[in-house]
Amino acid sequence: MKALVYHGPGQKAWEDVPDATVVEPTDVVVRVDTTTICGTDLHILHGDVAAVTDGRILGHEAVGTVTAVGDAVKGFGVGDRVLVPAITKCGRCEYCQRGMPSHCQTVGGIGWIFGHLIDGTQAELVRVPYADTSLYAVPENVTNEQAIFLADSLPTGYEVGVLAGAVRPGDTVAVVGAGAVGLAAILTTGLWGAARVIAIDSNKFRLEKALEFGATDVFEAGQSAASDVRALTDGLGVDVAIEAVGYPETLLTAASLVRPGGTIANIGVHGVPVELPMQDMWIQNVKLTMGLVDTVSIPTLLKMVASGRIPAEKMGTHSFTFDQMDEAYGVFGNAAANAALKVIITPA
Ligand SMILES: NC(=O)c1ccc[n+]([C@@H]2O[C@H](COP(=O)([O-])OP(=O)(O)OC[C@H]3O[C@@H](n4cnc5c(N)ncnc54)[C@H](O)[C@@H]3O)[C@@H](O)[C@H]2O)c1
Ligand SMILES: [Zn+2]
Ligand SMILES: [Zn+2]
Repeated sequence: MKALVYHGPGQKAWEDVPDATVVEPTDVVVRVDTTTICGTDLHILHGDVAAVTDGRILGHEAVGTVTAVGDAVKGFGVGDRVLVPAITKCGRCEYCQRGMPSHCQTVGGIGWIFGHLIDGTQAELVRVPYADTSLYAVPENVTNEQAIFLADSLPTGYEVGVLAGAVRPGDTVAVVGAGAVGLAAILTTGLWGAARVIAIDSNKFRLEKALEFGATDVFEAGQSAASDVRALTDGLGVDVAIEAVGYPETLLTAASLVRPGGTIANIGVHGVPVELPMQDMWIQNVKLTMGLVDTVSIPTLLKMVASGRIPAEKMGTHSFTFDQMDEAYGVFGNAAANAALKVIITPA
């Protein structure tokens, strides 16, 4: 089979590798019909993720068809159309039982293993461990181009942003960073009845997208963003401020927008320490949440996509085939210049 193989910082190749096979009785093999690229894949290529070593197949998002099934697998058979999510889970360990498979102890202490600790989904075939507890059947009326965004971006914006931020009916929500994840949060705040959703981004194209995804107001990032938001909220600030970039300054922006009693929901992956103004924050009774996505909201999101409540297909802006993997990375890696959000990659 062919797959996108990591060969150290800045080096990757779409090349021949041995076919993925069933190794454990709880495995299945999935033929990848649709995959995509995540910002995390770019971090890996920059050499930021030490656990990813030379020879690893990249990717942690796929929709595909089961082609082989281990003896212990009960819930899936050859030919089933399935969603392969970013998180793999045993379903039985302490963290899985607590609904936190992001820390599944059985698969290695962290649920994100594809394209990280084991070979990933940017390939013609992928081996999926703990298939019964990890895979999701895709409903007939949900397309591959919709389901693919439920593997990572949509559950991340929803779980780590909207649910962790505890958005309630009538709330005013600010989302700092309108990339795929921030837009996923914007797309799903409405499900909890947010009255006003304010998007803040440094990129005008992303702000246009934010309006398409359901934002009621948009502001360009900068000095005046906090005062703009205060002016819009009777000087109070927002109930929930979602951070979806991952820089110290964007978390500080989110913190500056929240009103007393509100919640700052940090989604961004941070690479350096952030100094928070605790001397001002303590008296505000604010909460700060953070975490790795569990992808446990996928069944809910699949139903919302199937019923037409969540237009997940809006996330895909560009399509490529497997042999255009380099072009796909080129466009996604320069998303702002290419007016790109997420790319869709298919066999042909
Ligand atoms: N917690 C999790 O489980 C989890 C999962 C997936 C992704 N993430 C993280 O979520 C974050 C967003 O991911 P993404 O795929 O949407 O990334 P992205 O690069 O597509 O989007 C980031 C957005 O932030 C904007 N931006 C950059 N600098 C800004 C600034 N100073 N002020 C305002 N906006 C600014 C960009 O224009 C862009 O629209 C990343 O940090 C990613 O690593 C976290
Ligand atoms: Zn990802
Ligand atoms: Zn587990």
